[in-house]
Amino acid sequence: MNRKQFLKNSTKGVAFATLFPSLAFCTTNGKQKPIPGSYSITQNFEPDTDIELTATPTELQLFTGNKTNIYTYQLKLISGDNAAHEKLPGSYLGPIIRVKQGQKIRIRFKNQLPRESVVHWHGLHIPPEMDGHPMYAIENGEQYIYEFEVNNRPGTYWFHPHPDKITGPQVYQGLAGLFIVEDDNSGLPSGEYDVPLIIQDRMFDNSNQLVYLQNNQMGQMQGFLGNRVLVNGNPDTTFNVSTSTYRFRVLNGSNSRIYKLAWNDSEDVIVIGADGGLLEKPVKKPYLMLAPGQRAEIWKDFSGQNTGTEIQLQSLAFNDGTSMGMGGGMMGRGMGGGMMQPDGVENGIAFNVASFKVTENSGKKMELPSALSTITPINPTDAVNSANPRQFYFYNQRMQWVINGETFGMTEVADWEKVKLNTTEIWEFINGDNGRGMGMMQDMMRMPHPVHLHGLQFQIIERDVSGIQRDVWESVKDGFLDEGWQDTFLLMPGMKVKIALKFEDFIGKYIYHCHNLEHEDMGMMRNYEVLG
Ligand code: C2O
Ligand code: CU
Ligand code: CU
Repeated sequence: MNRKQFLKNSTKGVAFATLFPSLAFCTTNGKQKPIPGSYSITQNFEPDTDIELTATPTELQLFTGNKTNIYTYQLKLISGDNAAHEKLPGSYLGPIIRVKQGQKIRIRFKNQLPRESVVHWHGLHIPPEMDGHPMYAIENGEQYIYEFEVNNRPGTYWFHPHPDKITGPQVYQGLAGLFIVEDDNSGLPSGEYDVPLIIQDRMFDNSNQLVYLQNNQMGQMQGFLGNRVLVNGNPDTTFNVSTSTYRFRVLNGSNSRIYKLAWNDSEDVIVIGADGGLLEKPVKKPYLMLAPGQRAEIWKDFSGQNTGTEIQLQSLAFNDGTSMGMGGGMMGRGMGGGMMQPDGVENGIAFNVASFKVTENSGKKMELPSALSTITPINPTDAVNSANPRQFYFYNQRMQWVINGETFGMTEVADWEKVKLNTTEIWEFINGDNGRGMGMMQDMMRMPHPVHLHGLQFQIIERDVSGIQRDVWESVKDGFLDEGWQDTFLLMPGMKVKIALKFEDFIGKYIYHCHNLEHEDMGMMRNYEVLG
């Protein structure tokens, strides 16, 4: 009996791991996988909130007719305040976990899925063993215990599965929830006026079952695009609102689709928050580009509207610069929608994401604050490599999406991915070039990549668009939110983006990857390691 079987056969692979931590290894995908000591609760850790979170297959009446098979997270409160969690009514998505900055949380994750899984807390600054690295994935029937203190700024974070090669399908089947660190900002809409909007595109067959990618490499390479939008896991995307001011916490929880969000009443999109919480002050944009993984908090005032009015949040058409290598032929996959083309290949169509129907002539009008929060800028000259930023080339090589020519290896870290604790660095991300001086090759396959780093929030310090194709740029240029703290940003073909980041508090391996989940599953993901 080999070690893997031993671990499998004893339900107490867990106990085994705890007893003999240094002996505990099993292999996945030929890679050694250390088993962390996180299978039992820490006695002297006193959580403010203690919950059980179970990932399980189930079925749901989403449409008339057949029920839809989905995956869902079920939450059970073990101890703590009931306000610490919230269900999204009538939805498989969620739940919403609510905490305050400085609170401690324990999450007992139980995997009842047919395949291995792990929960990643997207945007949180927590130790590597708690972050949901794919090497900590557990099998069906196993439990993993997350225990951490929440030190992030108040903001809208989220959680989703992160197993190697199968993150895309698990998120697609319904696993995603919000992790909100609450603020006590009394100047912002709260309670029923603080509304999450999780936007995802999906495709269903005639018997109401989810359709994922056709199993071919080209399909995976392009990423999944659905033909209808669900908001908060619901195909009915109409919301009743009153003549009030709202705070919408928008998450692009789609696998691959990028949205160009705009109101149809010709008002600007007023952004008050990014991935890492509130901005310094509100930012107005004619439209907002929101790539998979990104969050934006949007202020919207319906107070001047008459009842009966319906206002739409749309996604406008744009050219995303995708080229599958035919001499730069653009596919412009920015569109689709309620009535999207199956492949979303057609350019020039705006689609409706959500409708807000003013049904009540009462409520609460609020004035937009001129200041929202304090953001201490990272000074680029403090970076140890300010003269010579690390460069990360995101490109396609022999039908593989790669970062500096490499794909994911479970625990692999190259020298160019090792950083020192308590240092500030500048990293530069480049799309459309392979870093070997060949420039933007006309026949190179290229696509947008939403770049995401685990374990920290960073600041965007430069977006160089000199290499981007003109018509692509013209169609997206006013939509980039580079203010505030970010953990994910959109890197369009031809773009170079510089970020400033600080490695603090924790040592170990975190991953960074493309948040197009199909690209991630194909291996457009790597480890970086913080060394003490
Ligand atoms: Cu939301 Cu590693 O991802
Ligand atoms: Cu993440
Ligand atoms: Cu990508």
